Amino acid sequence: MTKTVLITGGAGFIGSHFTEYLAARYPEYALRVLDVLTYAGRRENLAALENNSNFAFIHADVRDKQAVYEAMQGVDYVVHFAAETHVDRSILDPDAFITTDVYGTFVMLEAARRTGIERFVHISTDEVYGSAEQGAFTEQSPLQPSSPYAASKAGADLLAQAYYRTYGVPVLIVRPSNTFGPRQYPEKLIPFFTVRALHDQPLPLYGDGQQQRDWLYVGDHVRAIDTVLHKGQIGEAYNIAGGNERTNIEVSRIILNTLGKPESLIQFVQDRPGHDRRYALDDTKLRVLGWKPEAEFETALQETVSWYAQHPEWWQPILQQQAEYRQFVQQWYAGRETGR
Ligand code: NAD
Ligand code: TYD
Repeated sequence: MTKTVLITGGAGFIGSHFTEYLAARYPEYALRVLDVLTYAGRRENLAALENNSNFAFIHADVRDKQAVYEAMQGVDYVVHFAAETHVDRSILDPDAFITTDVYGTFVMLEAARRTGIERFVHISTDEVYGSAEQGAFTEQSPLQPSSPYAASKAGADLLAQAYYRTYGVPVLIVRPSNTFGPRQYPEKLIPFFTVRALHDQPLPLYGDGQQQRDWLYVGDHVRAIDTVLHKGQIGEAYNIAGGNERTNIEVSRIILNTLGKPESLIQFVQDRPGHDRRYALDDTKLRVLGWKPEAEFETALQETVSWYAQHPEWWQPILQQQAEYRQFVQQWYAGRETGR
């Protein structure tokens, strides 16, 4: 049966992959992407859909009540990705994280309450649980966020739960782990280090580089959201795990080896304040719905690195801005250490 789907943040990394995936899997669905196009959102990420008559782009801000309310008219499903997403940026300047991630989610939920949609998938994150010293978090684990980003996502996650319990808004929550793949903005570890290595520039590894993340390939991520959208139980949260726990130094080595670059490019730098040591999720609940990750980690990572190597036209236009911001981040962390 045909459905109209509103996808916020669809011009970003995961949102654009998800929109492409839905268009291919459910060609009868009408897809509306709402995105304000921040530094991380780019219309060209949706290039494959521009000639699709079932696709529409709405240039709007999730904090704009009127625009969101209008965009939600006639919508069956909402998938809410739009957010400020980078931890380092949240440490330097948390403001937009609070307004977009928390208030923007409130605006989305409020519009959903008033328009009476069928399902609202809220994209949360594993970072809401904080650092996993041992074991793996289940959906029942307490939310103990460390960074302003994680705290703003935890606020949004809790609001989504409250809108289900109080108003019966048909919310489903996903909490995915660190994701990688083509078209990820080159501020996140994998694309950032890949682009640096391509330029023979040092890879700034925070602290001792032994922090662990559970890496999830974007193709597995979007299939998991599809599973929850169509088969999940309303009112429930679902962890999405990659099943690929690796230290940051291990990931850095694979990037360098793929590009044939020396490991001497790894440079240990001042750690990120409040840096979570390890993320780990128990995804049993999602697997019961029939999903499991399929990508083989090293192969998917090598393919991703190769994609960046083959598509400089995608990252070159944003490189200068990213490099300047990055320098600012590193100076800020170093200055914090010396008390400047
Ligand atoms: P991204 O930074 O690549 O894209 C974010 C998108 O949201 C951009 O297109 C941006 O323009 C848009 N946006 C930002 N503020 C907006 C606003 N006020 N109004 C409308 N649009 C706005 O992010 P991503 O990595 O694709 O992450 C998508 C979602 O998945 C986020 O909610 C993030 O918290 C979550 N998530 C990401 C990861 C990861 O590893 N990337 C892991 C777990 C969860
Ligand atoms: P990141 O991609 O920023 O994702 P998150 O902080 O949401 O997990 O970082 C992934 C890991 O890589 C994290 O432990 C921080 C580390 N990291 C570095 O060591 N150096 C860097 O320059 C960046 C961007 C990240």
